[in-house]
Amino acid sequence: MCGIVAYVGPKDAAPFLLEGLQRLEYRGYDSAGVVVSNKGLKMRKVKGRVADLAAAVPARFKGTLGIGHTRWATHGAPSDVNAHPHLSTDERIAVVHNGIIENADELRAKLEADGVVFVSETDTEVLSHLIGRTVKETDSLEEAVRMALKRVVGTYGIAVIDAQRPGEVVVARNGSPIVLGIGEKEMFAASDVAALVRYTRQVVHLEDGELAVLKADGFHTFASDARETAKEPLTVDWEAGHYDTGGYEHYLLKEISEQPDTVARTLRGRLDDRFHIAHLGGLNMDARESRSFRRVKIIGCGSAYYSGQIGAQLIEELARIPADAEPASEFRYRSPVVEPDTLYVAISQSGETYDTLAAVQELKRKGGRVLGIVNTVGSAIARECDGGVYLHAGPEVSVASTKAFTSTAVAFALLALHLGRVRDLSPADGRRICEGLRRLPGQIKEILALEPQIKELARKYAHSPSMMFVGRVRGYPVAREGAQKLKEISYVHAEAYPASELKHGPLALIGPEMPTVAIVPDDELLDKNLTTLGEIRARGGQVLMVGHRTADPKLADDCVVLPKNEVELDPILMSIPLQIFAYHAAVALERDVDKPRNLAKSVTVE
Ligand code: F6R
Repeated sequence: MCGIVAYVGPKDAAPFLLEGLQRLEYRGYDSAGVVVSNKGLKMRKVKGRVADLAAAVPARFKGTLGIGHTRWATHGAPSDVNAHPHLSTDERIAVVHNGIIENADELRAKLEADGVVFVSETDTEVLSHLIGRTVKETDSLEEAVRMALKRVVGTYGIAVIDAQRPGEVVVARNGSPIVLGIGEKEMFAASDVAALVRYTRQVVHLEDGELAVLKADGFHTFASDARETAKEPLTVDWEAGHYDTGGYEHYLLKEISEQPDTVARTLRGRLDDRFHIAHLGGLNMDARESRSFRRVKIIGCGSAYYSGQIGAQLIEELARIPADAEPASEFRYRSPVVEPDTLYVAISQSGETYDTLAAVQELKRKGGRVLGIVNTVGSAIARECDGGVYLHAGPEVSVASTKAFTSTAVAFALLALHLGRVRDLSPADGRRICEGLRRLPGQIKEILALEPQIKELARKYAHSPSMMFVGRVRGYPVAREGAQKLKEISYVHAEAYPASELKHGPLALIGPEMPTVAIVPDDELLDKNLTTLGEIRARGGQVLMVGHRTADPKLADDCVVLPKNEVELDPILMSIPLQIFAYHAAVALERDVDKPRNLAKSVTVE
């Protein structure tokens, strides 16, 4: 998705702007631009990479106030002209914008009728003209931005500068994140803390409807009615080094390899060996309240949703509360019945996914109790929820989610343990789960050591036109996530089905052209799964089995044998070989592993 950076202070803005944009590259974009103010605005923008932009910026691109942008096209094709910033006709105002202005056509028609000539096809240019016209009347950039935003329907995070006010940036947020960074006599802003951590750890998140005026010596924030708001800065514990590849060829491989640590961090300080319970202080619920829920409903998008399916099963098994997961993007549109005795859980790595945020807001409007399982501290979803569990997995840079997926599943195991132990889960079972959770980091290391074998298998299967992923009950969300990883980074078509459903339709697809990855844990469904493998092989389908034992060669062509944990926790481990498989398939097919086509890291538009 689009990225925003902004600077005001004593130094030249361009180095920060370009470096900041580079830090935001992981979010996905197609063009980039910067503008600085120095006796008039100086702007460069290009279709292509931030490196192309840096090459296009002349050595003398001086100015201590500036804004920059990476664009992910929505209105108009990727091009130099459509790239942001966009200027007012007199080139006094420059605007960068994330989000979508829904009434752009109508506003554009009105402005054109007034004689304004547009140069781009973007919705954003409407804003630069609206602000450009108003600033002349009000002589206040803040007021001009406020008035322009009143006419706009849609979502935005924006940063605006005025050539006649060389010491001031105005930023505003509605649905698209804006974070302020507080420096030493300098101020930064960005759409993501990734752009800021090299410069400051003191940040302030804007709320929807808020506007901020930044000057070198500080900032002021205002609600939509222009009342000043008080904001407490937050210290972020993510470091610049978290955003480097750390010697790995790709962020994805780095993040897969980090999982022994990230899972350990999600668990740290949360297991109680005396009572075999989980301590989750952020839930903001006492035992009586935790007992009062009769149902759990989990929402999230994409991989977050699949980790929610693992979570729903953990909660049903350990706490014996009916639980299910649903894509947040569907949930928000179907006017859900919100029940007082249901606990809602929203999952998001970024904490900014618009569909999930909108679903949480809908739930809150209807009086629902919502917990967040979120990685990004202080993000919009985290702020919106009544309480929750932070993953502490560190920033996830590669577009495809890996470490956040496993940490979310671990967070659900903790939540299930908590909800179980205030109900009927016995101390012995609580202890079994606590011990199983503690074994996870070591077992993940054992799985990572299987990489050479999994790499060979990925190379063997990568050229298949299509692959089937199957699993039963606990294995089904694992299969879905495995198919998701493969298709999003290798572009190999992959379908996931419950193994039990194969006979009811998809078996017709099985043949030599369609290999199957089968999730076969050593649990009470082992025999059923082995029967399914026999059915696939009988139709000439190849089988790659991921399980706890080597299968008869009549049932599987290849086997990846994993360490065994408690049956409830096996899905957490079983998703990791599928991440490694997808990674090496994508490398074998020479894909852009960390930035797969058409995708963005955090989807802040509808
Ligand atoms: C897949 C992937 C996406 C995200 C989804 C939700 O690998 O990364 O499916 O899981 O867009 O993102 P968050 O968790 O940031 O809300």
